[in-house]
Amino acid sequence: MAILPIIIAPDPRLNQPCEPVETVDDNVRRLMDDMLSTMYDAPGLGLAAPQVGVLKRIIVVDVSKNPDNPTPMQLVNPEIVWSSDELFDYEEGCLSLPDHYAPVTRPARVRVRYLDRTGTQCEIEADRLLAVCLQHEMDHLEGVLFVDHISKLKRNVILRKLQKTKKQMSAKAMADA
Ligand code: NI
Repeated sequence: MAILPIIIAPDPRLNQPCEPVETVDDNVRRLMDDMLSTMYDAPGLGLAAPQVGVLKRIIVVDVSKNPDNPTPMQLVNPEIVWSSDELFDYEEGCLSLPDHYAPVTRPARVRVRYLDRTGTQCEIEADRLLAVCLQHEMDHLEGVLFVDHISKLKRNVILRKLQKTKKQMSAKAMADA
């Protein structure tokens, strides 16, 4: 399984709605396995296909935070079929916005319908951290980042800092080449 490069914001590929997967085939399964390896390597709790440059409706999640007893999930074409009125606040981060965090308020519980790696339709009811993570990753499939849920002022501060870091990194890469 391969570790894929993760796209860092701001990047237009992170702002586009993704296409549904038509068939869960070996290519999709290989991509999801690579996405899990990439997520564990980072490390992170979730990863969406657009973060590795694939504009397809695919996410992977593992909120166990336990390498000895992982609970990986791979979801194709996930959709929220129910969400609670009760809300939950969580300090979110994102592998595409490294080292930046902000509190985001979302429904505390969601029911998500998706296809598993065999193409079988499944439903899961999630709460707390898993609900946060699923909603965060599904946002990526609409081209939405967690910073789109906070004030424009805070969002612009974070995106400007990331832009600056990216420029410094590419300048350093050129100097090292
Ligand atoms: Ni993210």
